[in-house]
Amino acid sequence: MSSLQMAKKNPNMERVTSKNKVFGRRKGKRLSWRQKENIKLYLSKYSIFNSYADGSFELDKIDLKKLFGDLDDFELEIGFGMGDFLFQKAMAQCTTGFLGCEVFENGVASLLTRIEEAKLRNVFIHPGNCIDLLDNLRGANLNTIHLLFPDPWPKNRHHKRRFLTTENIDKICLALKKGGSIFIATDIEAYANQINLIMDKRSDFEAEEFSIKEFKSPLGAEFQTKFERKAFASDRLPKYMIFKRIV
Ligand SMILES: C[S@@+](CC[C@H](N)C(=O)[O-])C[C@H]1O[C@@H](n2cnc3c(N)ncnc32)[C@H](O)[C@@H]1O
Repeated sequence: MSSLQMAKKNPNMERVTSKNKVFGRRKGKRLSWRQKENIKLYLSKYSIFNSYADGSFELDKIDLKKLFGDLDDFELEIGFGMGDFLFQKAMAQCTTGFLGCEVFENGVASLLTRIEEAKLRNVFIHPGNCIDLLDNLRGANLNTIHLLFPDPWPKNRHHKRRFLTTENIDKICLALKKGGSIFIATDIEAYANQINLIMDKRSDFEAEEFSIKEFKSPLGAEFQTKFERKAFASDRLPKYMIFKRIV
């Protein structure tokens, strides 16, 4: 069922402009004619919420069973960038339902083109702020949340923009099932240390031991996202972390 049909079925759905602030750029180089066409044609088909040109959405609690039909294992990627990871994972795990979220228009256009060409039926996206998505995923029992190379905001005065705050980890915890995990990668050592410090203090998550092959499974240890490639090209060795929800 498309998000538009869902909206029609649920008269309580409200058109809302996000109150949550997004930092960073939303537009890059001009979209090609083909990308614009794909957004026009396919955004509503693959959108979790019904969305409008003015940036508003019909935000509502997400019913994953309704969205994905008979699938019962779900993963989310926050900030999918150009969508390489989400697309390849969805291709490789066709019995898992994937949600993705990204504010960068070029990335959304790129992923939409690929999921439509491959006729994937196990991916839905939110082309907006991940906080709005997480707020509507409480109790969703997700198996895994991926956060790969979140914006590092390196300047001291911008540290408060970093995504992994106590408040956002609480939201992540509520969206994950007990036993579910968050997979995090960053090439900024200070950010990795900050994440480890925050997670160490939590009694609801436990740090997992794992190999890089397990972290990237089933894509293979050689798979890299765009920002992972950039990190290696600049001789910054990424840190990979997995935290499991234990209560
Ligand atoms: C450094 S990039 C990493 C992209 C990709 N994961 C990769 O590894 O190549 C971080 C991404 O997170 C997205 N992002 C930042 N804040 C966001 C938010 N509040 N909601 C959704 N996406 C967000 C940015 O637009 C950007 O594409």
